[in-house]
Amino acid sequence: MNNSKAIQVSGLTKYYGDLLAVDHISFEVPQGQVFGFLGPNGAGKTTTIRMLTGLTRPTEGNACVLGYDLATEITRIKKAIGVVPETSNLYDELSAWDNLVFMGQLYGVPRQERGERADALLRRFRLWEKRNTPFAKLSKGMKRALTVAAALVHCPQLVFLDEPTTGLDILSARSLRALIGQLRQEGVTVFLTTHYLEEAERLCDQIALIVKGRLVALDTVEGLKARVWGRATVEVTVGPSAEERLRFTAEDVVTALRLALAEAEQQRRPVLSVRTVGPTLEDAFIELTGLSAEVMLMEKGNQ
Ligand SMILES: Nc1ncnc2c1ncn2[C@@H]1O[C@H](COP(=O)(O)OP(=O)(O)O)[C@@H](O)[C@H]1O
Ligand SMILES: [Mg+2]
Repeated sequence: MNNSKAIQVSGLTKYYGDLLAVDHISFEVPQGQVFGFLGPNGAGKTTTIRMLTGLTRPTEGNACVLGYDLATEITRIKKAIGVVPETSNLYDELSAWDNLVFMGQLYGVPRQERGERADALLRRFRLWEKRNTPFAKLSKGMKRALTVAAALVHCPQLVFLDEPTTGLDILSARSLRALIGQLRQEGVTVFLTTHYLEEAERLCDQIALIVKGRLVALDTVEGLKARVWGRATVEVTVGPSAEERLRFTAEDVVTALRLALAEAEQQRRPVLSVRTVGPTLEDAFIELTGLSAEVMLMEKGNQ
């Protein structure tokens, strides 16, 4: 087993009855990376996390997490990792501090260290003033922050975060992203699922694109973008009052520009400015998955 890999996955598969939720995926996550698992709702992201963290058993395939075999050493894996589930696993009636101490107990943090750890995490997450507040009474952003704090109580080397910023206000989401950056600096490996292209682009060393349970691509942001180079994107800003940007991608700049100008003309709107833009992660996503970027914004139940 190669120890520089935090996670090694081979042929991991999950059926729910007839539904193939995760379809023979294989990938490796090097230690110390922020690894993005990016895909629309229902793609199989949570199911993958649930398998890798021992919450549900794979139908086929196996994985190695922090050097431990998923099939036979799940207890060791569970002790070594931190998990931030989609829905918080903390207790509504316990205070912020008590939740952290309790979690420390579950993870086997020595009794005398639990309180100190809880104090340090509450300060780090700017929740010190809320230390005596029951979890249920915290704001959404604070709840998420405390849930992340709880996953770090035993100083894990690998943390799974399932859509940590979904549903958060801009400021809370921003501070959580900053924290993910800090974890990376501390050498912690982060497995992050998200359906936000921009978040993945900003945070991740590598991105796995997952659609309908299948791994469509795995590369760095630059690597993914490079796959759509050779195509040109032109952006025209149209007016007159409510400015709007129209983007067109074609095989070459001239064709893209013609398309953009034709659209502006058809809308009878004056062109205020024109620029060529390099491929975005969104362009790469569209090209590699055949889906529209709007698919990512669909919430559960609208698919
Ligand atoms: N416990 C379950 N029982 C049956 N189907 C499930 C269950 N959990 C998830 N699914 C289905 O598996 C697919 C993948 O779901 P999920 O892993 O939650 O996707 P994501 O996290 O990417 O939104 C979806 O079609 C979902 O409806
Ligand atoms: Mg999910």
